[in-house]
Amino acid sequence: VNHLLGIKYLNTEDIKLIFETADHFKEVINRPIKKVPSLRDITIANLFFENSTRTKLSFELAEKRLSADVINFSASQSSVKKGETLIDTVNNILAMKVDMVVMRHPNPGASVFLSQHVNARIINAGDGAHEHPTQALLDSYSIREHLGEVAGKKVAIVGDILHSRVALSNIFALKLQGAEVMVCGPKTLLPKYIANLGVKVETNLEKALQWCDVANMLRVQNERMEVNYFPSTREYTQQYGVTTNLLNKLDKQITIMHPGPINRGVEITSEVADSDQAIILNQVENGVAIRMAIIYLLASKIKQ
Ligand code: CP
Repeated sequence: VNHLLGIKYLNTEDIKLIFETADHFKEVINRPIKKVPSLRDITIANLFFENSTRTKLSFELAEKRLSADVINFSASQSSVKKGETLIDTVNNILAMKVDMVVMRHPNPGASVFLSQHVNARIINAGDGAHEHPTQALLDSYSIREHLGEVAGKKVAIVGDILHSRVALSNIFALKLQGAEVMVCGPKTLLPKYIANLGVKVETNLEKALQWCDVANMLRVQNERMEVNYFPSTREYTQQYGVTTNLLNKLDKQITIMHPGPINRGVEITSEVADSDQAIILNQVENGVAIRMAIIYLLASKIKQ
């Protein structure tokens, strides 16, 4: 594997290696001196054509913890605004002797396209509604850490599946590791092809929560929708918002996850998001170790 473009290009052994490497880096970043000198000779460009808080900062921190040189690019402040193409932009950045590119882009397939046209290692930091592989890896890593293993666990991915790159990457990653996966949401937010991916499909939130060990709550991505999309926010919250009342009705304690950013009071109440059942900030913490592992493993190929 020369790039990380999506989970669909990985196999079970790749994920195992990433997790074992992340275990090592998690230990490193909890030491008083959080840095290792491994990538002193590597330069990485973080290209964000779409907004981000967690992914952007987590990649930058992971790169700095590995002692790589880092440059950051935000499309909204760049010559993209003057009409420069993606390939021209990236080739100009690579001319400054950059080895690796981390890219978030609003168009599905943008990372694959880039990997076919430029000479650098590419990491997909989210491409439209397609894939968000590092998010899925940190999600599975967090389930492994919290519940011991991913194999055999029942994971419900709840919410706006139609517009979610997190859902697709999680489905691929969880199934590769032997988890059972259910998607739950209103019919209008469930893509027609979803049942072909070998997942259970449920439209009733209470039934999904009763079934699962882990519920990964997704944000409704209003920015990817036409106006007046059904259901409205109020209808969505009534039918698909996770509340303490709903969780107390279950005959077991389930684990609550969320990739962020949270719409508090829409898909999840603050009481649930901030409860002991939620591992949302553990996911964010693990994101740094997972991204260190991925960058380290790809950089080792540059050095070969
Ligand atoms: N989870 C996630 O991708 O968050 P950001 O959009 O803030 O990076």
